[in-house]
Amino acid sequence: MTNATNDRRATTEGIHPPGPRRRVPALDALRMGRDRLAFLTMLRTQYGDIARVPLGAETLYLFSDPELVRDVLVTNHRNFHKGRGLERAKTLLGDGLLTSEGELHLRQRRLAQPAFHRHRVAAYGATMASYAAAHRDRWHAGTTIDAHQEMMALTLAIVGKTLFDADIEDEAAEIGAAITTTFESFNFGFYMPFGALIERLPFPATLRFRKARARLDATIYRLIAERRRSGTDRGDLLSMLLLAQDTEGDGGGMTDLQLRDEAMTIFLAGHETTANALTWTWYLLSQHPDVEARMHAEIDSALGGRLPSVDDLPGLPYTRMVLAESMRLYPPAWIIGRRAVGPFEAGGYTIPARSIVLCCQYTMHRDPRWFPDPERFDPERFTPEQQASRPKFSYFPFGGGPRVCIGEQFAWMEGVILLATIAQRWRLRLVPGHPVATRPIITLRPRYGMRMIVGRRETGDG
Ligand code: HEM
Repeated sequence: MTNATNDRRATTEGIHPPGPRRRVPALDALRMGRDRLAFLTMLRTQYGDIARVPLGAETLYLFSDPELVRDVLVTNHRNFHKGRGLERAKTLLGDGLLTSEGELHLRQRRLAQPAFHRHRVAAYGATMASYAAAHRDRWHAGTTIDAHQEMMALTLAIVGKTLFDADIEDEAAEIGAAITTTFESFNFGFYMPFGALIERLPFPATLRFRKARARLDATIYRLIAERRRSGTDRGDLLSMLLLAQDTEGDGGGMTDLQLRDEAMTIFLAGHETTANALTWTWYLLSQHPDVEARMHAEIDSALGGRLPSVDDLPGLPYTRMVLAESMRLYPPAWIIGRRAVGPFEAGGYTIPARSIVLCCQYTMHRDPRWFPDPERFDPERFTPEQQASRPKFSYFPFGGGPRVCIGEQFAWMEGVILLATIAQRWRLRLVPGHPVATRPIITLRPRYGMRMIVGRRETGDG
């Protein structure tokens, strides 16, 4: 710790970090619910690296220094639980990887890790390219699509195939609607006092949630039962999870319920995020024809018109930089919340036990200290040299530490392969006048979808 920090601690010991003076009442909490990104950005710009917000019965701390984020996610991670939204998330995801804590999480992570091993994930590359190719073949020049819906359907089909070896694209629209309903009703009451109670009452949103969950459950249990019956290793994620034995721990495997929870978790975590990343990327490319042209040139020279495979990824560095820059401006997972188990020191302040700590990708990724002229879309920020010049946790779309996204390799591979396959044939242009705005529910979605016109490229057709 530096002397400056020590001095600061000596003078500020016991004093709160800066933030709105009065306890933010429920009404303002609702305002935060409506315009969270603006509220959080205001907190960072007005109050600095640690902002304290007494909100209803809780006290929130927004950490905007990459070293503090490292502390929460990595160095001092044992002192943090996932906290608030967890109980509610569990009503959908049970005790899957995303929602379990402590020993149970460690065991499930050990069991699931082999399914995400680099070699295993590489085998999914061919599925990603062939599904993207089949999808692009269904588009027609001059038609209008909702790029968000298209990307959701495509990534859902890919996770269905790689996870369950199942062709669920036919069911995709219905499952997609069930997922949207589940996520939206999650959001309902999230920032209100008594949010957990609201969920137990028969509000229309709660009832819709239960119905959507039952729909998803039925699909997943059917797929698990089919697999248990056939007993074969189909080379997909579900086989890996079914066959997994906890050799480092109790030697056992997963029950049907655990399988259901993990499958549901990967199902949800594994498609909506990537779909959002791709949607925002198509939008940004449509606004930056120079970047788009450079990406097209790279794709054409690396692939010469054939479909991309995993082996082509090293030849597509600019495409990956485009995706990285897009996830900087529009991080699909836009905030990570944790609840402190015990009190801890941060920036010279003592943060009490039970506080809620927020590490917000959206605000960090737009901090001019790390990303000068932050609103500008510029993939050059992600050359290896540029990346090395910034603190690691100035950019953390996949989180960090022991709970880092288990699907990170999967997501990068899927993102680059889908971009390359689709951009080989098409360029997408925003429908004139279509409003573009963010909708931060659990993930960062485009509020009004993304209506785009499909245009054929002159070259590079596969
Ligand atoms: C662009 C795409 C993606 C983004 C931005 C993303 C982001 C994240 C983030 C930030 C976390 C950590 C949450 C926290 O610490 O509270 C996480 C966890 C997780 N992600 Fe992803 N993810 C993506 C794609 C995927 C994919 C493709 C899969 C699976 C196929 C996946 C499965 C998971 C799981 C299971 C966890 C929980 C890990 C644990 O707690 O041990 N994600 N993701």
